[in-house]
Amino acid sequence: ASSSQVSLTVNGTRYTVTVDNRTSLLDLLREHFGLTGTKKGCDAGACGACTVLVDDRRVNGCLTLAVRLDGARVTTIEGLSPGDNRPLHPLQQAFVDQDAFQCGYCTPGQIMSGVGCLKEGHTGSPEEIREWMSGNICRCGCYVKIVKAIQQAKG
Ligand code: FES
Repeated sequence: ASSSQVSLTVNGTRYTVTVDNRTSLLDLLREHFGLTGTKKGCDAGACGACTVLVDDRRVNGCLTLAVRLDGARVTTIEGLSPGDNRPLHPLQQAFVDQDAFQCGYCTPGQIMSGVGCLKEGHTGSPEEIREWMSGNICRCGCYVKIVKAIQQAKG
């Protein structure tokens, strides 16, 4: 079959969708769910703009086939702080406080990757954060502030 049925949870809600077997998680999120916070940079696993969490682990949405996600739990930037009047996630607030972006295109991926980094405990030093955030490219060169934001969120 060239398409498959997949049941997955996206930002806390369970869905069953029929997907073309070649569809990436990135395209599923953006085109089917309208979750355009997850960005398409390279579409080839090189930039990290498409980073989301699958079962609390960081993945590149562009390299992940949607058909592989039956039963999975996906969290995107939209799901970090659901609802209009909720406080920002601590790492979102830290990005604001530290001014950790310029154009902002890589920011959702940076934040999702940073949340993964925090969950994984790879935040012992600025060097460790840089290493474990190395899959996320920022053309504006905000790396120092991004590291500071992750340190702030770590508390
Ligand atoms: Fe997925 Fe660049 S768009 S890594």
